[in-house]
Amino acid sequence: MSLASGPGPGWLLFSFGMGLVSGSKCPNDCQCQAQEVICTGLQLTEYPSDIPLNTRRLYLNNNSIRFLPAMNLGLLSDLVYLDCRNNLIREVMDYTFVGVFRLIYLDLSFNNLSLISPHSFSVLSNLVQLNISNNPHLLSLNKYTFANTSSLRYLDLRNTGLQTLDPAAFQNLVTLQTLYLSGNPWKCNCSFLDFTIYLIVSHLNHPDELNATCVEPTELVGWPITQVGNPLRYMCITHLDGQDYVFLLLIGFCIFSMGIVVAWLTGVCAVLYQNACRRSSKDEDEDEHGQRVEASRRIFRSTVDSGHDGFPQLI
Ligand SMILES: *[C@@H]1O[C@H](CO)[C@@H](O)[C@H](O)[C@H]1NC(C)=O
Ligand SMILES: *[C@@H]1O[C@H](CO)[C@@H](O)[C@H](O)[C@H]1NC(C)=O
Ligand SMILES: *[C@@H]1O[C@H](CO)[C@@H](O)[C@H](O)[C@H]1NC(C)=O
Ligand SMILES: *[C@@H]1O[C@H](CO)[C@@H](O)[C@H](O)[C@H]1NC(C)=O
Ligand SMILES: *[C@@H]1O[C@H](CO)[C@@H](O)[C@H](O)[C@H]1NC(C)=O
Ligand SMILES: *[C@@H]1O[C@H](CO)[C@@H](O)[C@H](O)[C@H]1NC(C)=O
Repeated sequence: MSLASGPGPGWLLFSFGMGLVSGSKCPNDCQCQAQEVICTGLQLTEYPSDIPLNTRRLYLNNNSIRFLPAMNLGLLSDLVYLDCRNNLIREVMDYTFVGVFRLIYLDLSFNNLSLISPHSFSVLSNLVQLNISNNPHLLSLNKYTFANTSSLRYLDLRNTGLQTLDPAAFQNLVTLQTLYLSGNPWKCNCSFLDFTIYLIVSHLNHPDELNATCVEPTELVGWPITQVGNPLRYMCITHLDGQDYVFLLLIGFCIFSMGIVVAWLTGVCAVLYQNACRRSSKDEDEDEHGQRVEASRRIFRSTVDSGHDGFPQLI
């Protein structure tokens, strides 16, 4: 059997696989042809059974499926294309896609996702296109969510509840080309700064960039987040709060005290130097003093001796 070829836990495949290995059947009302299964718009409320194991493309879009069972999905180890658009899927767990590691295209748009657990996509290293747009209850993405999806080129995050993103989440997306970010309530506070800088330096395509704007704070409402990096940096660097003032005050006080100490030391050195100089040239000083007394004596004498004009005559 080809069941064991996936990396998923073997016991899952074994216990749930036995009932599903049913040859070349096709799920009720779906169309199956050439490794493609189309179950679009059938009002399904559950993942259909009897999907041929060699399926490469699976269309489950426009149904009311709430849950993707990892065990059944994991049997489709050749699956490269999975369209789950327009369903009611609420969460994606760490093991949901563990068996479909060949996936290249995954569309989860227009669902009701509120949780994508951090390792959900960790085996999807071939994934090129991922669409999780239009999941308004999706409020956050873990920074490890895309850690192993290193082939990703198109990522659609439009119209979710995301308020912020960590640039660390994008650090392994070395082949990413196109990123859609519009229609999210981006909160452009200082925690968001790093991501906006990433958007500037990464040179990705943002076809919807003018609609990917800040909703907070009021000064930046309407700014496209691809362009808000510099104003935000300015705001975050020049903005000071109480703690910053205390810090600045402390720094100021330190500089002031250092100044006083340095001035005092300089004064002490100057005085010591002067004293040393004075002591070493004491004799010379005394000689000069004697000469000066002599000179003034002479001037005095000449004033007295001088004629009628009354001006002293210096020799
Ligand atoms: C799927 O649903 C969407 C919106 O409900 C609709 O616009 C689209 O035509 C449907 N597609 C199919 C193939 O039924
Ligand atoms: C979508 O999920 C939210 C909670 O995350 C829930 O309140 C809501 O009823 C769900 N909507 C549907 C149509 O299931
Ligand atoms: C990425 O894959 C490796 C090996 O396949 C695994 O050990 C690691 O836990 C995965 N990382 C994440 C964040 O899922
Ligand atoms: C993602 O899904 C939405 C809705 O289904 C669609 O309009 C959009 O083109 C898709 N994005 C990509 C990158 O395929
Ligand atoms: C910025 O907003 C995000 C999302 O609401 C929040 O988690 C974070 O703590 C905020 N950061 C600052 C510095 O206010
Ligand atoms: C931006 O949003 C407006 C109104 O919602 C829409 O008409 C326009 O096509 C959108 N532009 C892009 C590039 O998505």
